Amino acid sequence: MSAKFTPFENTGKHQKNKMDETNVALFQPFSINSLTLKNRVVVPPMCTYSAEDGLADEFHVNHYGSLGRGGAGLVIVEATAVSPEGRISPSCLGIWNDSQAAQMAKVASAIKAGGAVPGIQLGHAGRKANANEPWNGDDHISEDNERAWQTIAPSSIPFGAHLARVPKEMSQEDILRVQNDFKMAAQRARDAGFEWLELHFAHGYLAQSFFSIHSNHRTDSYGGDFAGRTRFIIETVEAVRSVWPKEFPLTIRFGVLEYDDRDEETLNESIALTNILKEKGLDLLNVSVGFTIPGTSVPWGAGFLADIAKRMKAETSVAIASAWGLGDPELANRVVEEGCMDLAMIGRAYLANPHYTYEIARTLKIDHPSWVLPTPYAHWLERYK
Ligand code: NDP
Ligand code: FNR
Repeated sequence: MSAKFTPFENTGKHQKNKMDETNVALFQPFSINSLTLKNRVVVPPMCTYSAEDGLADEFHVNHYGSLGRGGAGLVIVEATAVSPEGRISPSCLGIWNDSQAAQMAKVASAIKAGGAVPGIQLGHAGRKANANEPWNGDDHISEDNERAWQTIAPSSIPFGAHLARVPKEMSQEDILRVQNDFKMAAQRARDAGFEWLELHFAHGYLAQSFFSIHSNHRTDSYGGDFAGRTRFIIETVEAVRSVWPKEFPLTIRFGVLEYDDRDEETLNESIALTNILKEKGLDLLNVSVGFTIPGTSVPWGAGFLADIAKRMKAETSVAIASAWGLGDPELANRVVEEGCMDLAMIGRAYLANPHYTYEIARTLKIDHPSWVLPTPYAHWLERYK
């Protein structure tokens, strides 16, 4: 009887044999807690707005399975809501019930079968929730529409621009409920087979809006000074850490600045917060932008956040990842080599080509570049160049 054909179980072995020979920074393994990523390339979360009732389906399993086979060390599933009202749009993924978790288990398994570590981003969109999908306007669904729901936030201050609906100010009961939603979602994610957890505390969503003075005008213990504005975040990390296994990294994506007129103050607060979170069990910070207010002067451009990431790496005690315009392989390698970040996240290039790691490996001229892909691809790409 012939041996069972299990191509992807061999992937790591082949990659190790060939890839051990490279000195290229981006292709060095990265160990954190009990986990080792085979390289420093990460596919960051990217919403696909393709779910019904928060349920992953064949599209998600195929999409993430393909990214899992694509050679990156880690693939993080898009913003997945911890409660129905936390969805960015009605078409976003969720993990607030067991049926959703069962579907997500297939997604995690598909990523892992391809040779990558399966990660998930859990989030609550706060006052930016209940928007139309980007290709349907990206704006708030009007309140009289049947797909509308009540949005919530630390204060009843709207984001503005295309997301102008006024959210309900959260009571302390609401706060406890959402924190428990994060905890339950983390437990489901763990049971579904995810090995990397990112809490979405960035991009103007709920947690970021607790932190920002632009969106948090509360007068109780969840607002006001630094301690008040960071309390929601710190308590949520503590709640999640209590159920998320120690061997797997607990990480956050956080906007460490807004590109408003108080960036130095925000950066210093972000550094202080990160060091507090380290004590509560945070393992890695994914450095991003706040996006709390519309119309700021974000300096879009290749690697525009790399120097900020480098500062966070120097002044905090956690590992650092970051994204934004790192699609050029030379640049992605340089930001890791120069110690700006431990992991380089590359988003849109993987939407164009799920096997983009192969292009990165070829551009960086590593030996046997095809071996960043699973054996059934690598063999043929190497044999007939
Ligand atoms: P928007 O997507 O509304 O963008 C705000 C402004 O920034 C717009 O003027 C937009 O330009 C510009 N912009 C956004 N991305 C880029 C880019 N890559 N290069 C150049 N200009 C850009 O802001 P949001 O607050 O909704 O999202 C912030 C970022 O996060 C965006 O890059 C978005 O793609 C990304 N995102 C995050 C999600 C999440 O965290 N769950 C979900 C989806 C997207 P223009 O008006 O020309 O579009
Ligand atoms: C995103 N981004 C994003 N960020 C996040 O934290 N959670 C998410 O679910 C999403 N969703 C999302 C969807 C789409 C279509 C895009 C293009 C972006 C931001 C993403 O993770 C990444 O930071 C940016 O795409 C910048 O990286 P690149 O594309 O310049 O490599």
